[in-house]
Amino acid sequence: MKDAAPQPTLLADYTPYPFRIGGVDLTFRLAPKSTRVIARIDFAPNPDRPGRHDLRLHGEGLKLMSAKIDGRKVKPARDAEGLTVAAAALPEGAFTWEAEVEIAPARNTALEGLYMSNGMYCTQCEAEGFRKITFYPDRPDVMAPFRVRIESDLPVLLSNGNPVAQGEGWAEWHDPWPKPSYLFALVAGDLAAVSDSFTTRSGREVALNIWVRAGDEDRCAYAMDSLKRAMKWDEDVYGREYDLDVFNIVAVDDFNMGAMENKGLNIFNSRLVLASPETATDGDFERIESVIAHEYFHNWTGNRITCRDWFQLCLKEGLTVFRDQQFSAHMRSAAVKRIEDVLTLRARQFREDMGPLAHPVRPDRYIEINNFYTATVYEKGAEVIRMLKLLVGDEGYRKALDLYFERHDGQAATIEDWLKVFEDATGRDLAQFNRWYTDAGTPRLSVRETWQDGTYTLTFAQHTPPTPGQDEKPPRVIPIAVGLINPNGDEVVPTTLLEMTEAEQSFRFEGLASRPVPSILRGFSAPVVLERQADAAERAFLLAHDTDPFNRWEAGRALARDVLTGLIAEERAPAGEYVEALGRMLTDEGLDPAFRALCLRLPSEDDLAQALHDAGLTPDPDRIHAGREGLATQIARQLQKPLAAIFAQMETPPPYRPDAGPAGRRALRLACLGLLNRTDHGTRAAALFAQADNMTESAAALACLIDGGRGAREIGAFYERWQGNRLVIDKWFALQVAHAAPEMAAQVAARLSEHPDFEWKNPNRFRALLGALAANHAGFHHISGAAYRFYVDWLIRLDPVNPQTTARMTTAFETWTRYDGDRKSMIRAELERLAATPELSRDSFEMVSRILGADG
Ligand code: BES
Ligand code: ZN
Repeated sequence: MKDAAPQPTLLADYTPYPFRIGGVDLTFRLAPKSTRVIARIDFAPNPDRPGRHDLRLHGEGLKLMSAKIDGRKVKPARDAEGLTVAAAALPEGAFTWEAEVEIAPARNTALEGLYMSNGMYCTQCEAEGFRKITFYPDRPDVMAPFRVRIESDLPVLLSNGNPVAQGEGWAEWHDPWPKPSYLFALVAGDLAAVSDSFTTRSGREVALNIWVRAGDEDRCAYAMDSLKRAMKWDEDVYGREYDLDVFNIVAVDDFNMGAMENKGLNIFNSRLVLASPETATDGDFERIESVIAHEYFHNWTGNRITCRDWFQLCLKEGLTVFRDQQFSAHMRSAAVKRIEDVLTLRARQFREDMGPLAHPVRPDRYIEINNFYTATVYEKGAEVIRMLKLLVGDEGYRKALDLYFERHDGQAATIEDWLKVFEDATGRDLAQFNRWYTDAGTPRLSVRETWQDGTYTLTFAQHTPPTPGQDEKPPRVIPIAVGLINPNGDEVVPTTLLEMTEAEQSFRFEGLASRPVPSILRGFSAPVVLERQADAAERAFLLAHDTDPFNRWEAGRALARDVLTGLIAEERAPAGEYVEALGRMLTDEGLDPAFRALCLRLPSEDDLAQALHDAGLTPDPDRIHAGREGLATQIARQLQKPLAAIFAQMETPPPYRPDAGPAGRRALRLACLGLLNRTDHGTRAAALFAQADNMTESAAALACLIDGGRGAREIGAFYERWQGNRLVIDKWFALQVAHAAPEMAAQVAARLSEHPDFEWKNPNRFRALLGALAANHAGFHHISGAAYRFYVDWLIRLDPVNPQTTARMTTAFETWTRYDGDRKSMIRAELERLAATPELSRDSFEMVSRILGADG
């Protein structure tokens, strides 16, 4: 790979494909080591690309058995990426291409294309996996209706669209909706269905099936319920109905990602389908609800309207994440959901945006597109739409979306198309707004305040630090939601949206009786870093009085961060005010337990490393760990009484229910447990572990025991109980590594990697162990360097087997330039070792080069 450095694909180079496809006919003769794929594709010249052109088809790892055009044999020119039939060898107008290829799904460990998982055939084609199935223009702007015939002895044979016919050993499917190849799917296996139905608002009866392995049927109820709620919600809120007779979901154990929206045949990582109270946590249930909804929502935002090219990925992903966030906010608590989403955004996207991997929401170059399914495209992509909605208002948003669906249905669209519907529907000029799509980096917003004669003035200044390849950052439009609160706690100016468009800009509030306390960036109205120093008293005041729940939480968060960074950097801990404010909030029975649980959660060690780095300091992982542990213990001592009382009060009566109410009570109870565990010698955790009837409590109790350096017996008991349940055993691996003491983490991971259940080729299992190691901040960055070495050893081992998962996991190092010289040189050496690996995949090569580019 290093002899010929891979060439990037550029947004600027886009040209339409020279042909259109009238229809695709595929026949699969399935066999593990020799599947035959017979394709018949009707091509016609594309009027958008006049002239005569070669026929260029993608294809990778395919054995071409025969190729014909209009029934006559042809011998195309082959290369590593596909084949070419010269224009001169093509008929002048329309023609039919026929090809038969052979592939070996049983040898496909990369889990892209057609592969096997536990004896079942399945596919993953996004982004560029279809080219591993047959020769095809594997790009999203080429859309066609598909007919599929599957021949196999396996009992269940599925593909996209509606079933047409079936018999002994075969089945035929037809998908009438033109779609790009990345949405193709096929599944064949010995599967059991959990079935239900949904009647759309126009009266279409849709058969719903969730396909799982026999024995797993009793863990599908929550996914099915979530699906029906999502279908209803999309009708009610977006006016979008489902458009086929069947909707199938299949759960597979070996899957690189979370789930995939293939038309009419969604394929899911089994961890995002299977759940019962005994095996899944509240967090798992919540995630299942949102991912089921996400993939379902793609039916309109992604499938009916798809992307012109992969640079437009946020067109479907940012919008669909925004839609699934809205859905979850409606199903649960909007305030809690917003806080959770911002926590994720900061932990993943801000982290990415401040490091060597920073890129725009709409990137303009890539080497491997799989590397661009990032927090920036997804989470920031959703934030950008949230801002757009704030700026045009709810009605404007609805009008724009109606226009989007009307104008672009059946098309492969761009971000320009997307912004144009907002301009046309609302009359607003969005030229400046477009910078949110083209410019990388998180803007920093500073604030000055003046108070004179009843007039309060807020002056904001915005500045975005340079990111790789982008030095100059012109000002962006930033929607800043502001409220003002009187010193007595009354809100004197309710939430007002300020639109900042200049580098520096002032906003005046007149006729006030006394100097107010500002509540800025309510609801986190823009994905920016608010740089505003405030003293502990003011933060405590907002934690007590802000009417905006997000900013109330944010005030507590800022207070905790200030205390912790002070403690870590200066060994001085004026935490009293913080702990008192926390105590008042904790015992405020008017507050949602889930909200209180979030307030009790301290910033993570990684968040603190980022905060220290932002403040111009070099984060020391040991001190961060010690400081955070110290503050938690101080809270536990000082608030021992209320914590114990709430721990008792928040017990949830059986039977277990996964919805927001009881889940919030458990979250608060378990947050209290985490603190109480620091002073009670593990008695509560051990008792809870012994009696828990659900995984939420079992896993939390086990984590506490491991945190306290206890739990050897419980770790054994947990394994005995759950051996054979892959999803629960994943938790068993992850918990032990994530909660290991810093100096032990690499050793614990190494020991577990020798365990017979460490099936490292399974991405869930690999992530359970290695992902948990990277998430153990002080353990991963332990000064011995043992974790870095161990981690890279495993990346090198996984890369030839599964490049996509390997490349994603290199992001554990994306923050490496924050740290001290010793750690930096150890990490650099490891990254260089990885980069120098013979035959390193293009995926990992691109990631390592970009990460190393950070510091030369
Ligand atoms: N389209 C993606 C799945 C995908 C991503 C396939 C990357 C191939 C490469 C799907 O809609 C998706 O976004 N899945 C997410 C979960 C979602 C809820 C954010 C995933 O798999 O992590
Ligand atoms: Zn998606």
